Amino acid sequence: MRILVTGGAGFIGSAVCRYLVLEAGDVVLNVDKLTYAGNPESLRKLARHSSYKFAREDICDRAAMDRLFADFQPDGVLHLAAESHVDRSITGAGDFVTTNIVGTFSLLEAARAYWSQLAPRRRSEFRFVQVSTDEVYGSLGAVGAFTEGTPYDPSSPYSASKAAADHLASAWHRTYGLPVVISNCSNNYGPFHFPEKLIPLIILNAMHGRPLPVYGDGSNIRDWLFVEDHARALHTVLKRGQPGEKYNIGGRNERQNIDVVRQICRILDRLQPTGAGREQLITFVKDRPGHDQRYAIDASKLEGELGWRAQETFESGIEKTVRWYLQNEWWWRPLRDKVYAGERLGLTANAE
Ligand SMILES: NC(=O)c1ccc[n+]([C@@H]2O[C@H](COP(=O)([O-])OP(=O)(O)OC[C@H]3O[C@@H](n4cnc5c(N)ncnc54)[C@H](O)[C@@H]3O)[C@@H](O)[C@H]2O)c1
Repeated sequence: MRILVTGGAGFIGSAVCRYLVLEAGDVVLNVDKLTYAGNPESLRKLARHSSYKFAREDICDRAAMDRLFADFQPDGVLHLAAESHVDRSITGAGDFVTTNIVGTFSLLEAARAYWSQLAPRRRSEFRFVQVSTDEVYGSLGAVGAFTEGTPYDPSSPYSASKAAADHLASAWHRTYGLPVVISNCSNNYGPFHFPEKLIPLIILNAMHGRPLPVYGDGSNIRDWLFVEDHARALHTVLKRGQPGEKYNIGGRNERQNIDVVRQICRILDRLQPTGAGREQLITFVKDRPGHDQRYAIDASKLEGELGWRAQETFESGIEKTVRWYLQNEWWWRPLRDKVYAGERLGLTANAE
């Protein structure tokens, strides 16, 4: 398949590009603006691969998107490009509205113009996968899990912008017949994760004996999925997902944030002992405004209808992730030195 991937220089997008080219044998055009979150170093393995092409473009640029569709002639789109960090959305929502909503609109229109002139067979096989998040569903109480029927109830500027984009994608299917499939995935973790997100931030701070910031009392629950499992799930959704359908993606790995942090400390204490246990570095800090308490994904539709299963448990995936950060300073060192050094993000004036 010829697949146009947007946001392929980001955390999940780079795992998707590596999977598609190196394991699935697909041909990929990666369209990425290279914001602070985009990093071509995550794609080193593909740089000279004949099945991989890169275009530095903004998805909001409709003319550029039209040109890329015409030149590359994709069989499908995996749309991951987004502003993705909740904390940044709290202090600067504009970029989220622009890229996540206006950018998705621009890409949907370019895809529709391209798809509508395809020959009937390619037209019926074409897919546009809108890659979304479980955060659009809002926050859960102590029990239950999000299903594909759970109403949207986003809490943050980030999740609201993703929800808006999902509604646009769904409307482009109902109104124009564009073969859109939407995926809603839980929190990802793994190699090449930008160091401002919880797990890489904690790993790097713990490696360097720095405080380990935990929001609120650390009781918030996330449902963690290893990023390579997400890449395989997106490939499955692209190949076998039904137009107009939604698929939840998750690995049934609910953990309280504080337990994730403690587990990372234990792994590092074992792999790189320092004498003093790293749990003493845990520091509780002011909570994130609008912080959702609990997310949990029911992925039984994807498992039952499309046959996908997560391959990593949280235990195996977090061990691989910690080892990866220990072995790949060449990747994270320039980011820590030049892009993000670990400072607190996402506090409003009222919350300070
Ligand atoms: N990280 C998670 O846990 C998670 C979970 C579920 C869903 N998602 C979704 O998956 C997608 C990827 O998430 P991620 O964590 O890899 O994000 P990321 O922030 O690591 O990467 C986003 C990528 O998009 C690019 N980009 C941003 N604005 C762009 C624009 N206007 N035009 C072109 N490219 C642009 C960036 O340069 C970057 O490479 C997002 O749509 C996100 O909402 C993420």
